[in-house]
Amino acid sequence: MPESLGRHTDYGQKPLNEADVAADPIAQFVNWLDQAEESGVYEPNAMVLSTIDPDGLPSSRTVLLRGVDQQGLRIFTSYSSDKGRALLAHPEVALVFPWYTVQRQVIVRGTAMATDAAVSDAYFAARPRGAQIAAVASDQSRPIASREALEHKVRDVEERVGADAPVARPEDWGGFRVVPTSIEFWQGRTSRLHDRLRFTRADAASGWHLERLQP
Ligand SMILES: Cc1cc2nc3c(=O)[nH]c(=O)nc-3n(C[C@H](O)[C@H](O)[C@H](O)COP(=O)(O)O)c2cc1C
Repeated sequence: MPESLGRHTDYGQKPLNEADVAADPIAQFVNWLDQAEESGVYEPNAMVLSTIDPDGLPSSRTVLLRGVDQQGLRIFTSYSSDKGRALLAHPEVALVFPWYTVQRQVIVRGTAMATDAAVSDAYFAARPRGAQIAAVASDQSRPIASREALEHKVRDVEERVGADAPVARPEDWGGFRVVPTSIEFWQGRTSRLHDRLRFTRADAASGWHLERLQP
């Protein structure tokens, strides 16, 4: 049996107090993201995104945060992927940023909406060319016969686009922004007496309410 299954790590002494958090949870999130980055957390902008499939069942997968401000948390993906279809059918989402090495996690709940085409265009244009070609070639989440068949699709796109021409953003590829209604900051503490501070609001126009949750 892997040793980790029986391990009981006692988390640190670093407290998270009500007086320490910014009044605005987006500002607090950006502070913690900065600290995760400075602490060397691998891919600190990676989160687990949970969605509700069109048939009502849950699904989770990792995606990268590409922007955050008062408009929400921005991610980019294929609108025709499983997650894209799920988000268009049921926009309610949950996100987890699992920053284990700093004994922290942030849990967000909110509503996802497609970003403006201009936002998707700007981000797509900034991606490495290989990633642009991949976005065109891959019908994300659909089965394919083999790795060779996938690489064949990539070569077809490369030939079609031409070596020096810019790659146009596929219409079904772009951004979502998650407008949060709940953001929980979790700090691991000793003996499982963790600190949990959760900001909630009824909707994007309301003010935030802060409360402490039992661990
Ligand atoms: C670290 C990491 C980052 C990822 N970032 C993204 C991303 O930003 N966008 C994306 O579409 N898929 C991303 N993926 C791939 C997704 O986890 C997933 O495999 C893919 O989006 C298809 O998911 P779906 O079939 O549920 O739609 C990432 C995977 C990992 C492990």
